[in-house]
Amino acid sequence: MNAPTRIEGGMIGKPVPRIDGRLKVTGAACYPSDVPLEDMAYAFLVTSSIARGRIKEFHLEDAQAVDGVLDILTYENTKGKLRKARFFSNGGHASTTIMPMDSPKIWHEGQIIAIVIAETYEAAREAAYKVRVDYVERKATPGFDERRPQPRQISNPLSSSNPKVGNADKAFEEAAVKVDVYYTTPTQHHNSIELFTTTCVWSGDQLTVYEPSQYVYGLKNGVAKQLGINPDRVRAVSPFVGGAFGSKAAVTPRTALIALAAKRLNRPVKLVATREQGYTVSSYRAETQHHMKLGADRAGKLTSLSHEGWEVSSRPDSYKVAGTETTSLLYACPNVYTKVNVVHADRSTPGFMRSPPEVPYMFALESAMDELAVALALDPVELRRINDTKVNPVNQKPYSSRSLMACYDKAAEAFGWSKRKPEPGSMQDGDWLIGWGCATACYPTNVAPSEARVTLAPNGTVRVQTAGHDIGTGAYTAIALTAAEFLGVALEDVNVELGDSTLPPAPVAGGSNATASICNSVAEACEDIRERLAQAAVHSDGPMRGVDPASIHLSHGMLVTDEGKKEPLKDALARLGFGPVEAHSKYTPEVASGAIKLLGHTLLSKGIPVMTPGTSAGDHVQYALGAEFVEVRIHKRTREIRVPRLVGAFAAGRIISPTTARSQLLGGLIWGVGSALHEATEIDRRTARYVNDDLAEYLIPVNADIRDVEVIFVPEEDSKVNALGIKGLGELGNVGTNAAVANAVYHATGRRIRELPIRIEDLL
Ligand code: MOS
Repeated sequence: MNAPTRIEGGMIGKPVPRIDGRLKVTGAACYPSDVPLEDMAYAFLVTSSIARGRIKEFHLEDAQAVDGVLDILTYENTKGKLRKARFFSNGGHASTTIMPMDSPKIWHEGQIIAIVIAETYEAAREAAYKVRVDYVERKATPGFDERRPQPRQISNPLSSSNPKVGNADKAFEEAAVKVDVYYTTPTQHHNSIELFTTTCVWSGDQLTVYEPSQYVYGLKNGVAKQLGINPDRVRAVSPFVGGAFGSKAAVTPRTALIALAAKRLNRPVKLVATREQGYTVSSYRAETQHHMKLGADRAGKLTSLSHEGWEVSSRPDSYKVAGTETTSLLYACPNVYTKVNVVHADRSTPGFMRSPPEVPYMFALESAMDELAVALALDPVELRRINDTKVNPVNQKPYSSRSLMACYDKAAEAFGWSKRKPEPGSMQDGDWLIGWGCATACYPTNVAPSEARVTLAPNGTVRVQTAGHDIGTGAYTAIALTAAEFLGVALEDVNVELGDSTLPPAPVAGGSNATASICNSVAEACEDIRERLAQAAVHSDGPMRGVDPASIHLSHGMLVTDEGKKEPLKDALARLGFGPVEAHSKYTPEVASGAIKLLGHTLLSKGIPVMTPGTSAGDHVQYALGAEFVEVRIHKRTREIRVPRLVGAFAAGRIISPTTARSQLLGGLIWGVGSALHEATEIDRRTARYVNDDLAEYLIPVNADIRDVEVIFVPEEDSKVNALGIKGLGELGNVGTNAAVANAVYHATGRRIRELPIRIEDLL
């Protein structure tokens, strides 16, 4: 079945407050970390203080002597108890293939090496601090070495296609104007407010896991795999998530270990990993390096684009974000060369972090585009206009829709870009140098199979059930608006249930695919209900007898025909003898390739992530796009950097919930400032240990750092991406900001900073 395409705009696109807002501000929203259980025991992790080597011996006597200690797990009693789950980049669910308590081997600093369980959290913590470990330590490699570029260690190239076309080297040699530079981005950590917790409880052979998750089906299936049990015996519950940003998408080793502990004790066990432990027991954004070579003719047309990237990963896993899939197709260019390398180090395995490929790779491309504009003495917006394209230059596939220059025009106008003086340092205000910069934001439109159950009760209220997730994004609101739209009921009459693996399967809340995937499945279920009501109405003695059922729709609590015949919905339900009307829809993206279309539901019900990536969606490419403009002010003497103004204009197809969509984009822009000026996880190169793994020293912007932020929606219709025309925008907002800030810093000072974050000391 197809989702209805008739959208009256009654509810979809209406700016309403988020429907779960009251629950959240009153504390009534029950986050998985808050679930209280009878007879709960508490776990505390012991993590490795070395980055490479092995455990020689544990001394547990002092820990065992702490009052209230119930059990201590080490590899000596957990070895062989858990199975390896497949790595997510390899079609599985696991965040890493490192099985931390399966052997004495140490792969990275902060690896889980023991778990203490006690009657109270405090007792578990005290005992954990008393666990003594003798190690055999080996010299660790912290990340990239000091050479640049890094040695080329490409390993296990699972997915990356390294797009290329023409002869980029030759075209670069012959180019009239050239940019040939390196960029670097740092390690970053998500630092969600809700920590990495897990509560496991067994009831007979049934396991329930309460854990903040972006993917309850993945959690259920991944943990079942690790425990070697049938997935039907695992339930994962996560109705709210206090921040995730990618870190709660894949299954970390902690969950199965806590399930094991709960089994041993025959009691519910709750783990709260500390903020510091969160840096190494889950994933992170790895540091990257980039070699960019751009060649252009004198008019500014790109003739050659080369982008080579290096990314750090752990020893056993070849995780890479491979953003050249995006940077190769954004601008018209006949000669493109790209390559991605993985550099293995003694580190935990990195993973998704908001806009994983685009954030580092677009920093490189959009900084280099600005450098090219300077070399050409062209306005940077004009350079993008000259190189705007309607097709992917590598394979000539058209964009399903592309509003990039409309975004630039809207944002430039709102920002006042026409008043910019191009000369660096030429705009000043007293002691402050003013810099204006801009950059492109983009994110592929991903769509995945998704299921939903919608029930219309005789009293006109609606229940929507799907195992999707609201990770703070506004999913509850977007889904409720969709059901309200297509069933013609008030928003207050819609109840949405999410985040429980007993609900119909939904994809990972990642890759900005949730709204597009889930709202289409909800719309299909609503269409099913409308169709059944309409059929009954036209075949009964009533005002709609004999009319075309397709002409009947639901609006403002009424059944309405195109000719204006009306009957209140509740009256019709009673008259036609309906009890609750339930519809269960299985949405499969139209753009999916044959194999995914066929397999999508089988794989999804097994919890295997299947997404149709926007970069290769059948016969076209599909992207949400935006333009971001930034004003920086840099103090002439102290070099303090301020960002008083951010303007972003975005085109992302149909916007279901403008209020929460705007929040996503505002948050993205603000995060972008953090990423450009503050955020970096620092590593002690001698020991391969993080040194600022806490919220005091991991710098993020505070309120005083952020002043005016403006988000503009550029209307866009796209009938190719999915029936409802949704592109998704959860990750779009923070993509261009790094480069926009760096470009503004150049404009203010004439200093090109190619290594993030940009700090005062870079400008002295
Ligand atoms: Mo997002 S990093 O795909 O959760």
